[in-house]
Amino acid sequence: MLYDNHGRAINYIRLAVTDRCNLRCFYCMPEEGIKYLPKSELLTYEEMLRLLEILATMGISKLRITGGEPFIRKEMMIFLQKASEIEGLNEIHITTNGTTTAHLVPQLKAMGIKSINLSLDTLDEARFYQITRRNVFPKVMEAFHALIEGGIRTKINMVVMTGQNIEDIIPMAELTKDYPISVRYIEEMPFNGAGSHYQTLEWNHRKILTHLKTRFPNIEKIPDAAYSTSANYKVPGYQGSVGIIAAYSRTFCGTCNRIRLTPKGLLKTCLYDDGVFNVRDIMRAGATNEQIKSTFLEALGNRAKDGYEAEEKRQFGLPIVESMSTIGG
Ligand code: GTP
Ligand code: 5AD
Ligand code: SF4
Repeated sequence: MLYDNHGRAINYIRLAVTDRCNLRCFYCMPEEGIKYLPKSELLTYEEMLRLLEILATMGISKLRITGGEPFIRKEMMIFLQKASEIEGLNEIHITTNGTTTAHLVPQLKAMGIKSINLSLDTLDEARFYQITRRNVFPKVMEAFHALIEGGIRTKINMVVMTGQNIEDIIPMAELTKDYPISVRYIEEMPFNGAGSHYQTLEWNHRKILTHLKTRFPNIEKIPDAAYSTSANYKVPGYQGSVGIIAAYSRTFCGTCNRIRLTPKGLLKTCLYDDGVFNVRDIMRAGATNEQIKSTFLEALGNRAKDGYEAEEKRQFGLPIVESMSTIGG
């Protein structure tokens, strides 16, 4: 088992396989003028597999694939198959926008993909277009139904945004009546690629819960899984559950078990830091597996205690200007 300098177990890596996306969600990316990384700057699949093998021997057992949109990267399914064969990497999960996922469900199931988190911020087609700037709502719903029918555990991630999708909070919770899913409401974070920030976050985790209680006064707290990012609840009698992720208020740092690799190989030991070292560069300079291991260990020995400290210590200063597509969430 791996531990950081605050005694937290680290067993989870989030790997962003591309910074590209076929949507333009305004809370993540500007509509135009995005500079995608040239292919030569991305970690290759071979490099990613080598890293995953090393990390699996160190105690990382859970992998989440993110992006950008992971399924936009060519030959993603071949990479996933190979990753699923790595010894010690017991769980693979994917966070996707679902726009190109429906037809892949049987293959993902056969590979043993543990769960899929679908980013979906509204159940209304017009609002979907307003938020994502693309007209593909039916494709995402197709993926949703394929996942349910295919028997893959599914969560919906909804970023809650003032003036955009507050009307969707209750209908999203209603989805859990008939489907055994988890709907997670996420506080909006400042990773929109535009460097724009709200002064205070209006729809924080407390306000989201209060809002849910107005419609579901009997909503019950249910136990949270170990290392859960969400505080979870259930409407009695409903098949699924709802969760609230205090991603901006950062209430769950005390049990943070994760590290992140960006598409260009930057290691982040906190979502709010701006990168600790570039593992692609040391690999390309010829580092041995042992050298790579010690570099990771050193980084884990210097981890910020929480997202506030990580934000304060950013080397390139504030405000945060990154797009979530370059981090992977
Ligand atoms: P599970 O493994 O299903 O619990 O998913 P997850 O919540 O770890 O991952 P997912 O990719 O679905 O992320 C959901 C939301 O939580 C996204 O907005 C992420 O950016 C946010 N999130 C995930 N991990 C962290 C974290 O460590 N810190 C903060 N502040 N937010 C996080
Ligand atoms: N704030 C909160 N969540 C975000 N995501 C992307 N950008 C933001 C943001 N600015 C979410 C996506 C996806 C997850 C990985 O991160 O909706 O579900
Ligand atoms: Fe971990 Fe940083 Fe997220 Fe807190 S804000 S849970 S320390 S990644």
